[in-house]
Amino acid sequence: MYGMVNRAIEDLVVSSAGVEVWNEVRQAADVEPDGFLDSASYDDDVTYRLVAAASKVLQQPAEDILRAFGRHWILYTGKEGWASVFDLGGDNMVDFINGLDNMHARVQIALPDAQMPQFSVVECDGYLELTYRSIRTGFAPMVLGLLDGLAEQFDESWDIEHVVEKTETQDDIFHLRNSKQTGQIDEADAA
Ligand code: HEM
Repeated sequence: MYGMVNRAIEDLVVSSAGVEVWNEVRQAADVEPDGFLDSASYDDDVTYRLVAAASKVLQQPAEDILRAFGRHWILYTGKEGWASVFDLGGDNMVDFINGLDNMHARVQIALPDAQMPQFSVVECDGYLELTYRSIRTGFAPMVLGLLDGLAEQFDESWDIEHVVEKTETQDDIFHLRNSKQTGQIDEADAA
């Protein structure tokens, strides 16, 4: 994956645990201290090693690291360098999710070697069904974190469930249920 992904993992570890912990993670992942170039393409194995090393050093399951990373990506990284792409994606969860492939396609113009995931959305009775396709395996927890970050970004409240796990013949599926409309005042708030 592009260096910006690995650099965002570095940024998450440094901002939550400090530079010394990042150095431990980096060494455990067998990564050189030179840092990542945002626009260079790295073997996916580097990303997998960083997540596994962060999991070991921070003593948290890899799924939790990936979920925190997804949220961090939306709330910090995506916004830093890609504000214009982000803004074009929409100002609410439903529009943004429906436009994910267009958004990644715009990013791909700048990063031609990227192998972007693909998403499709179906509106069902009371929930959205989001299908996530990728040439990679293991990033579904990151999708949960990305969706957490988007909901936070748009000040919306969604219950998000990973209902089907990827297999050789099946893609990952998530169900998203809007638990509270923006601006809605519930009884507890009103009391
Ligand atoms: C400003 C916002 C965003 C930008 C600039 C962006 C850009 C990128 C880039 C550059 C990659 C690496 C691909 C590669 O190097 O091969 C990537 C991967 C990925 N993106 Fe996005 N993305 C954004 C938002 C999102 C959102 C909102 C989602 C889902 C809800 C998402 C889902 C993913 C996933 C799951 C991957 C991991 C790779 C894979 O699944 O194969 N991204 N994105």
